[in-house]
Amino acid sequence: MFDVRKVRERFPALRAKHEGAPLIYLDNASTTQKPDVVIERIASFYRSGCGNVHRGVHALTGETTRLYEHARETVARFIGASDPSEIVFTRNATDAIHIAAFSWAWERIGEGDEIVVSEMEHSSNLVPWQLLAREKNAALRFLRVGADGRLRGAALKRILTPRTKLAALIHVSNSTGAVNPVEELAAAARARGVPILVDGAQSVPHIPVDVRKIDCDFFVFSGHKMLGPTGVGVLHARKNILDSMRPFFGGGGTVREMGRAGSSFNEAPWKLEAGTPSVADALGLEAAIGFLEMIGMDEIREHERILVETALDALAEVPRIALYGPETSKNRAGVISFNIEGIRPADLGRFLDERGIAVRAGDHCTQLLFRSMGIAATARASFYLYNTTDEIACFASALREAAALPRSAWKDVEGA
Ligand SMILES: Cc1ncc(COP(=O)(O)O)c(C=O)c1O
Repeated sequence: MFDVRKVRERFPALRAKHEGAPLIYLDNASTTQKPDVVIERIASFYRSGCGNVHRGVHALTGETTRLYEHARETVARFIGASDPSEIVFTRNATDAIHIAAFSWAWERIGEGDEIVVSEMEHSSNLVPWQLLAREKNAALRFLRVGADGRLRGAALKRILTPRTKLAALIHVSNSTGAVNPVEELAAAARARGVPILVDGAQSVPHIPVDVRKIDCDFFVFSGHKMLGPTGVGVLHARKNILDSMRPFFGGGGTVREMGRAGSSFNEAPWKLEAGTPSVADALGLEAAIGFLEMIGMDEIREHERILVETALDALAEVPRIALYGPETSKNRAGVISFNIEGIRPADLGRFLDERGIAVRAGDHCTQLLFRSMGIAATARASFYLYNTTDEIACFASALREAAALPRSAWKDVEGA
């Protein structure tokens, strides 16, 4: 295993102090802190002089193009894609889903067709499909969450019909940490000839991912949740699918030959990257991948498994606590959603914040999931490679302190 203390030294933001004690950052499902190599990579790109990509003949543009395409190769290797041309750089996972919806699905979904999503989806993998379905008079069908808190291939098979044109499903839940059996889901969709999009926003940062093994048609994720910068995400799709897609955005980089009434388009992936891309962020993402690979994705998964086990044990001691999601770390990534009876999640979040512990409170963009679970909101702790078991002990102790306060103390807090 890696030395967490050494890892932490690489993150300037983790040196921030709260009343003399270091910040305890447990909001990694939302976004992650950045290591020095990522910050330095972005700064050095600008410091050493930058050009645009795939435009012009001078040395800086050539070098920038080379660096940008190298970042694409690194991303492709990291997720096991067959070829770098299967990687489209986007702004984030949400953007990537919109490109799949409006460049690919737009031309293939018509009146009466169906798109399957699950009750567990983040709004980013629900609302684009709602928008598309409304435009096309198509319908959304919802895969329910199984008794173990996960999606199941057998249940997916049951709701696919000859009108199903796509299944768009989440890999790892940002609200419960449930790790869905994504290979089983992809196989079920394939058995019925239905293409599948996998939302990997919470899986790629935390567990080893191989898109060829999953055998999915589309796979999306965001750079900022995996130590990379904001402003860059990825749409992966098989080359023949990308080739068949019309550009959603048109403009610089997408055109082969410009006409007055219309234009012909460049090859994929460039035809899907209109305008100047965020080159610096793509390079920052490449540096983040280098950092993750240096530690090892298997090691990161194991580290988070230990953190989750430690947290589940420690939190079970907190009076009046309800924990949501899979019971053990086997099918759970580093996410724990919880409530303490009598305390609103937002009040609990503020209480922890006053003690230098950052968690998220709310519905985590998964209102459908929470409605199916009979709750409105939770507090959520989410871990990453730089979190420690000592931090979890502090976190659990703060929760015990909160639970020990008289219930009347919570009635007076802001928003009561
Ligand atoms: C499961 C899941 N999908 C998609 C997204 C959207 O990611 P982004 O906001 O980076 O586009 C998130 C963000 O929290 C997420 O957790």
